[in-house]
Amino acid sequence: MALLNILHFPDPRLRTVAKAVTEFDEELRQFVSDMFETMYEAPGIGLAATQVDRHIRLLVMDVSEARNQPRCLINPEILEADGEEEMDEGCLSVPGFYEKVRRAEHIRVRAHDENGTLNEFEAEGIEAVCIQHEMDHLEGKLFVDYLSNLKRNRIRSKLVKTLKQQAS
Ligand code: NI
Repeated sequence: MALLNILHFPDPRLRTVAKAVTEFDEELRQFVSDMFETMYEAPGIGLAATQVDRHIRLLVMDVSEARNQPRCLINPEILEADGEEEMDEGCLSVPGFYEKVRRAEHIRVRAHDENGTLNEFEAEGIEAVCIQHEMDHLEGKLFVDYLSNLKRNRIRSKLVKTLKQQAS
């Protein structure tokens, strides 16, 4: 087990488009277990591989109150999306900022798990929001991209400033 380092906006590596996973082997399962450890430790409700600088289509999540429903989605696809909802979102790569983002309220998803089994399921509410947020990461997209330029630039300068303070 190992904690992975989480990249912070505006790190350009967060803009990488992830590639499909083709091998479901022991190395992948080890990575998934490190991803869960990193997400729970942070703590966060979701983490995409992109955020730890590994550019494969994989995300982990747990939106349960008790933190006992880990779910790993590999090569996820949204088959259907409908409705609209707006929720406050945050991101482990944009620490300390929460903003409203509009997403589909209900989605139908197909994804492999860490053993390579293909599952299809429906999600709504915070689970649907989390999946859409994490899938954006795999496209190199962040929730701040949905905000106005003014808001995004303000967040960027604050995070850059924090980074400089940590470095000095
Ligand atoms: Ni995020």
